[in-house]
Amino acid sequence: MKRTALATAVLLLAATVRAEPSLVTPPDKGTPLFGISEECMPSQCLPAPARDAMPLGDALAARATHREFSSKPFTLQELSDLLWAANGYNRPDEKKRTAPTAINRQEIDIYVCLAEGACIWNPGANELKMVCQEDLRGFTGRMNAGADNFALKAPVALVYVVDFARQGMQDRPNDALRYAAVDCGFIGQNVYLHCAANGLHTVFLGSLDVERIAKALGLPPTSVPFFAQTVGHPAE
Ligand SMILES: Cc1cc2nc3c(=O)[nH]c(=O)nc-3n(C[C@H](O)[C@H](O)[C@H](O)COP(=O)(O)O)c2cc1C
Repeated sequence: MKRTALATAVLLLAATVRAEPSLVTPPDKGTPLFGISEECMPSQCLPAPARDAMPLGDALAARATHREFSSKPFTLQELSDLLWAANGYNRPDEKKRTAPTAINRQEIDIYVCLAEGACIWNPGANELKMVCQEDLRGFTGRMNAGADNFALKAPVALVYVVDFARQGMQDRPNDALRYAAVDCGFIGQNVYLHCAANGLHTVFLGSLDVERIAKALGLPPTSVPFFAQTVGHPAE
């Protein structure tokens, strides 16, 4: 009974909490891109991703959560490699990805939150498009720690946004919730293994300010920031 209430609450959250007008999406501008309208925000093409070289067994042996980060920024190549591992097209002819999704709904978008602002990643074009010029990293991680929040020390906070409209399971809210959480988990584990294979540090995060991030990203009411993941180089 409690679980049903939780599922209903989350879907209601998706449907109602963010009825306010978007900060970044004027209603009459442009073509939708993953639920967000085009506007005059910068975009950045990423270089072709490179494959991880470490054998899978070694990456599994090294997989761990680490919360100590250096502020060294990521190169575009590092970002491209990270995002492809997370949820890139590994079978582009079939439009299928490195992470599975229930019923192949591919309902999760990855937002890349940097000090300069937040970008949505378009995996087909391998392009980042800025959607908000606010630093959202501090709305993930240990939020009550202020400047000591590890998420502010790392250059990248990935935010996994579930589009419940794309998932199309509004008549089965419990399944919608279960599937969305597991689908995020697969992406999270891909990121963990990629980080292990490349000497990077990462933390998967249930702790994020859902409403604040959704508002800043200008998400439609059916999209919910579900989990986040801090990624960076190890502290020196
Ligand atoms: C669903 C989920 C939510 C998590 N949320 C947080 C979080 O909000 N903050 C945090 O510091 N770590 C978080 N973690 C990381 C766990 O604390 C970590 O995985 C756990 O301590 C086990 O350590 P290991 O990953 O090194 O095996 C989360 C992990 C999972 C799977």
